[in-house]
Amino acid sequence: MSDVLDEIFERVVASRIFRNRDILSPDYIPDRLPHREEQIKRVGSVLAQALKNSRPNNLFIYGLTGTGKTAVTLYVLRRLVEKAKQLGVRVSYVYVNTRQRDTPYKVLADIASSVGLRVPFTGLSTAEIYARLVRALSRWDGVLIIVLDEVDWLVRRRGDDLLYKLTRIGYDLPPGSAKVSLVGITNDVRFVEMLDARVRSSLGEEEVIFPPYNAEQLRDILWERASQAFQPGVIDESVISYCAALAAREHGDARRALDLLRVAGEMAERENAPRVTVEHVKKAWIQIERDRIYEVVSTLPLHARLAILAAIRAQRTSGRDYTTTGELYAHYRELATRIGVEAVTQRRISDIINELDMLGILSARVISRGRYGKTRMITLAADEDTVLAAIAQDPRLREVVNTLL
Ligand SMILES: Nc1ncnc2c1ncn2[C@@H]1O[C@H](COP(=O)(O)OP(=O)(O)OP(=O)(O)O)[C@@H](O)[C@H]1O
Ligand SMILES: [Mg+2]
Repeated sequence: MSDVLDEIFERVVASRIFRNRDILSPDYIPDRLPHREEQIKRVGSVLAQALKNSRPNNLFIYGLTGTGKTAVTLYVLRRLVEKAKQLGVRVSYVYVNTRQRDTPYKVLADIASSVGLRVPFTGLSTAEIYARLVRALSRWDGVLIIVLDEVDWLVRRRGDDLLYKLTRIGYDLPPGSAKVSLVGITNDVRFVEMLDARVRSSLGEEEVIFPPYNAEQLRDILWERASQAFQPGVIDESVISYCAALAAREHGDARRALDLLRVAGEMAERENAPRVTVEHVKKAWIQIERDRIYEVVSTLPLHARLAILAAIRAQRTSGRDYTTTGELYAHYRELATRIGVEAVTQRRISDIINELDMLGILSARVISRGRYGKTRMITLAADEDTVLAAIAQDPRLREVVNTLL
């Protein structure tokens, strides 16, 4: 029976669009990273010390999201380990993303297992794993590079104790032990302020900054990946430029640009189109933006979600295409009472409005009303259906969404 599934399978196997879609996936590390030559050189020269069996300085890497920090670091480390093998030097690294491995226990467990220790999922104290790690490292001859990616997540939740310990692990090791160096990566500009001065100075022995990409650079990056990911002739200049321009507006995020191209390709494939067009990119942008809004709204605290509902309700009842802080707050109080939670203050709601503005969910513009002083013109900045669908997931709010007027 030739059914609908057969058709789908055939379409993917004989794709006219993709040659290898994985090349556009966010964790794929390409062989070439255009416009990161400077950063590759800097990271490479710091870590190259390992090839002479000496401890590389600790390295702190920062830059906005999607600027190639993870890709460059892993690229350099892979090359370093290859070279070390050729030279017969013992160099290894362990990569831990502390957003995923979000406790000191998990981080230490990953480091310990990279040097061959077996650590149970739970049951030991972190002090005990640390002690075992130190023991193992004192018998381990060579250089170990520990990469803590998105390290701000760990520090924000658990403080910088572990970081402090790891930057000083050398002092706990007898002479002739492993040489350990630390690479910390973050996209949080305020991260440094969270650190104790001693941690800051030892982690920041060397620092490399990753500036955002501009549209032209994003174009080169996209071409590089697209030429391997797509069938010949499927992508043209206009599509690449359009993706690059959209992503450049979002502070030069290469991940955004690649996502856009991938989703546009998927849309073309689903439509059985012969090539990817600017129209596909436009649709892809809308879908990605919707997914982002859905995700963001789903994880907001209750009062922020109530504030969004209040904004929509206030706008609808006012008959205008905007609402004000005062109106919004009145509706918010009503909704809070309706679901039986205590309302927060107007001051707090005002802060929440600012946060929602930064997330691109509400837009709050200050306008002057002459002798009545200033007020804010608040409008919904995101797709209403998407926002409401995300809020309605919460059973406490479903009823409110359905009877919003
Ligand atoms: N110069 C480049 N050439 C090719 N691909 C790149 C380049 N820079 C980044 N990329 C790709 O863009 C995506 C995002 O890069 P990466 O994951 O390194 O960003 P990041 O700086 O670590 O961001 P975050 O702070 O969000 O973790 C990845 O798929 C990566 O391969
Ligand atoms: Mg990263």
